[in-house]
Amino acid sequence: MSAYLKVSGLEKRFGGLLALQDCSFTIAERRITCLVGPNGAGKTTIFNVITGFLKPDEGSVTFRGRSLDGLAPQAVVHAGIARTFQNLRLFADLTALDNVMVGLPRQFAEEPLGAIFRPLHAARTQGRRREEALEILSHVGLADRATERVRNLSYGEQKLLTVARVLATGAELLLLDEPASGLSAGALDNIMALLRRLQNEGKTLLVVEHNTRVVQQIADDVLFLHQGHLMAQGTPQQIIADPALAEIYFGGAI
Ligand SMILES: Nc1ncnc2c1ncn2[C@@H]1O[C@H](COP(=O)(O)OP(=O)(O)O)[C@@H](O)[C@H]1O
Ligand SMILES: [Mg+2]
Repeated sequence: MSAYLKVSGLEKRFGGLLALQDCSFTIAERRITCLVGPNGAGKTTIFNVITGFLKPDEGSVTFRGRSLDGLAPQAVVHAGIARTFQNLRLFADLTALDNVMVGLPRQFAEEPLGAIFRPLHAARTQGRRREEALEILSHVGLADRATERVRNLSYGEQKLLTVARVLATGAELLLLDEPASGLSAGALDNIMALLRRLQNEGKTLLVVEHNTRVVQQIADDVLFLHQGHLMAQGTPQQIIADPALAEIYFGGAI
């Protein structure tokens, strides 16, 4: 397995709480890796460290052999990694289309100076951006909701929109924080099909997921995190069949 993304010896403290400790793993290109583990295991903290939202106390992250240490979130996106947030963080009063457009990389024509010196070019660029955002929306199945305000979208549609927004960045590695949580059965099938489609198109996905049915259906590899430490790594079958992991995960409920 080639180390496309490599996380080595991460440690992160919040006061007296050790959220990540000696956390190491690699993920392979063009695969769907599910990151599982009980609440508070440190899954979101890993996303925050990889994407530059949090600085680790120890350890490092490399992507395609390049160190990401010390990069700001915008620079990490530029390097090719984009993430969604567990609490969505969409602009509720903007339309679905505008939410995607703000995710598209900026070009000179759209900067204030560009708009002054090349107004016609700026207008054309704006039109192209709109087209591009519409294309992304239809890719995730939201074309008919483009001009709807986010607050009027269903929860499932909002989840799809967060994926559209990471697609807008053009990033090749997508970190999705619980994209399937809280969804109805229909919306769940929708998002699973979308994740598979993205994989087939060449994206690599690291997905935090709780639903074992979803994990079984989409994961090529599973990382099991417990108390900030990588406890096991394997195929969905291996991880789900392990009684010790089930005990930690479900507290003996199954
Ligand atoms: N910004 C923060 N400040 C203080 N504690 C935090 C912060 N972020 C996360 N934690 C704590 O770190 C632990 C791991 O959290 P998190 O990564 O969100 O877990 P998960 O996503 O696996 O549920 C939890 O105990 C959580 O309360
Ligand atoms: Mg979380």
